[in-house]
Amino acid sequence: MTANAKRISLTQYLVEEQRLHNTVPGELRLLIEVVARACKTISHAVGKGALGEVLGSAGIENVQGEVQKKLDVLSNEILLEANEWGGHLAAMASEEMETIHPIPNRYPMGEYLLLFDPLDGSSNIDVNVSIGTIFSVLKAPEGMVTPTEEDFLQPGAKQVAAGYAVYGPQTVLVLTTGDGVNCFTLDREMGSWVLTQRNMQIPVDTKEYAINASNARHWYPPVQRYINELQQGKTGPRGKDFNMRWIASMVADVHRILNRGGIFMYPADAREPNKPGKLRLMYEANPMSFIVEQAGGAATNGTQRILDIQPESLHQRVAVFLGSKNEVEHVTGYHRDA
Ligand code: AHG
Ligand code: MN
Ligand code: MN
Ligand code: MN
Repeated sequence: MTANAKRISLTQYLVEEQRLHNTVPGELRLLIEVVARACKTISHAVGKGALGEVLGSAGIENVQGEVQKKLDVLSNEILLEANEWGGHLAAMASEEMETIHPIPNRYPMGEYLLLFDPLDGSSNIDVNVSIGTIFSVLKAPEGMVTPTEEDFLQPGAKQVAAGYAVYGPQTVLVLTTGDGVNCFTLDREMGSWVLTQRNMQIPVDTKEYAINASNARHWYPPVQRYINELQQGKTGPRGKDFNMRWIASMVADVHRILNRGGIFMYPADAREPNKPGKLRLMYEANPMSFIVEQAGGAATNGTQRILDIQPESLHQRVAVFLGSKNEVEHVTGYHRDA
């Protein structure tokens, strides 16, 4: 973006989407702006590092069986407090909360449901590697009076908005409302989100894959065979050399793929035979799959489109293969042939 190019803020972008393209209703615009403001607050806390009260463990186990980091808890609180009073939400759900969080009676109840992973990549917090926030927006079912967990259990295809923030060398917010994917960079001096990439498109082919290779001995045959063929490089069946990246913050791996292509995988493996993988469907896989598809990519669980999965519980896990369309279709084929 050249210095004197007209800067378009997140607010202006959303107002234009609302007024010119009629894709973003007013209440949804308000919701997205509130979440974006909360991400700014989280970014500020993350940036303090050892100078703030944000590093290290909170010493409490969450519903996932993970020991929460202080920043997991703080980020969750920031998102709850920012979104309770606005009148645009009926309830919230979070990786860090066992049950849903209805809007307190003293505030007006709105028509949307917000789900979030308040701090993604927690294992990277204390070592200054990029981390982020992921969020997903659903409409509350018609006629809902008192929100329940069941109201959240809608397939990812029903999302009306999804986004993530990356707290890295730059703080960026990537957003879709179903009309393409746009990236906003935080102007720290002005405190505003500035549109820096319009209509992001993932290259349909790639030479870069992302998987935690330390789990190789636990992978099931389709993944073993697929990765083995990638590793044979130019002289192997794929006829090209592949590079590998694994940041262990989904937001950072997905952001790289949105920018230069790639395939991100977190498959089911033999470590937990009764679990389909590590990542959570409702607030990691669904929002990221919506974004990836809107950018011309693909996202499956190895056999079906992630956005078509009918959720059965709020914290259910799912296998994830997402990114460059042709590569995702290729690896999905290995599972169908299995
Ligand atoms: P979270 O920090 O929200 O629990 O998510 C971590 C996820 C995801 O961000 C990342 O891709 C993956 O876990 C990393 O898993 P490994 O540590 O097993 O590689
Ligand atoms: Mn996460
Ligand atoms: Mn998290
Ligand atoms: Mn976690």
